[in-house]
Amino acid sequence: MEFVKVSQNGFVTTVTIDRPKALNALNEQVIKELEEAFDAISPETTRAIILTGGGEKSFVAGADIGFMQNMTKAEGEAWGTFANAVFRKIELCPIPVIAAINGYALGGGNEISMCCDIRLASDNAVFGQPEVGLGITPGFGGTQRLARVIGSLSKAKEIIYAARNIKAEEALRIGLVSAVYPQAELMAAANKLANDIAAQAPIAVRNCKRAINEGIEMDIDRGLRLEANIFGDCFLSEDQTEGMTAFLEKRKEKNFTN
Ligand code: CAA
Repeated sequence: MEFVKVSQNGFVTTVTIDRPKALNALNEQVIKELEEAFDAISPETTRAIILTGGGEKSFVAGADIGFMQNMTKAEGEAWGTFANAVFRKIELCPIPVIAAINGYALGGGNEISMCCDIRLASDNAVFGQPEVGLGITPGFGGTQRLARVIGSLSKAKEIIYAARNIKAEEALRIGLVSAVYPQAELMAAANKLANDIAAQAPIAVRNCKRAINEGIEMDIDRGLRLEANIFGDCFLSEDQTEGMTAFLEKRKEKNFTN
C-alpha cells in the first residue's frame, strides 16, 4: 500500500495514514487502502488498534479538496457514501481503535477520528469542520457524529456553522478527546493505553465495545437487555474462568485467549 502503513507490536496494530506531502488528506486511494488495512486485521492477533497520521504536522487535514473540486452532485453523493461505508467499518471494527491525533484533524480528519473508540491528542492538534468555508457540508459523518460524541448540539453547531477550529485544550474540555500529551509523548501514551486494553480478556473487551456502541442507539430498557445478554455470553468464554480463577488464587498473571 502506498499511503497506509501497518505495523504490529505484540497484540497492538498501528495503522498510519501516510501522505504527509498533502497533510494526509483523504483521496479515494487512501480510503481504499484504509479499508484494506482494517479488513486484514484479525482479533486472532490484534487486541487494540492505533490509528495515526504520518509526519509531524497532521493527523488528517480532511478530504482531498483537489479531488473533490469538480465533482457533480452524483459524484459527491457517491464519494460521501463510499467514505461513510469505510468509516463505519472502522467504527464497527470489533477491536478497540484509539486515534492518536498528532496535528491537524480537520474535516474528514476529525470525522475519521470520531469513528474511533478513544481519541488522544498531541498538544499541537487542531480540530474542526471547515467544510462550510468550502461551500459544502461535512460529508464523512461530521453532521451526525460530532453532536453525539461531545453531547452538545449547541457546541457541535457552533463548530460546524462557523467553521471554527479548536485547539487540543478546548477539544479536551468539550470531551472531543480523552487526553492531551506533548507531541513527543503521544505515541507512547497511545501504546500504553493500547497495551492496557490488550492485557484484558479480549472477548470481554470486544463484548463491551458491542454493548456500548449498540446500546447508545437504544432506549435504556432495550440497552439493559442487550447488556444482560452480552454479560451472559461472557460466561461461555474460557477467559471468564481464567480471570475469576486468577483473582481467587491471588495470581497476577492471567492467561487470556483471543
Ligand atoms: N486536500 C488537499 N490537499 C491538502 C489538504 C486537503 N484537505 N490539506 C492540505 N493539503 C495540501 C496543501 O494543498 C499543500 O499542498 P502543496 O504543498 O502541494 O501546496 C500541503 O498539503 C501543505 O498544506 P499547506 O501548505 O496549506 O500547510 P499549512 O501549514 O500552511 O496549512 C492547513 C495547514 C491549515 C491544515 C491547511 O492545509 C488547510 O487549511 N487544509 C485544508 C483543511 C480543510 O479544509 N479540510 C477539510 C476538507 S473538506 C472535507 O474534509 C469534506 C468532508 O467532510 C468529507
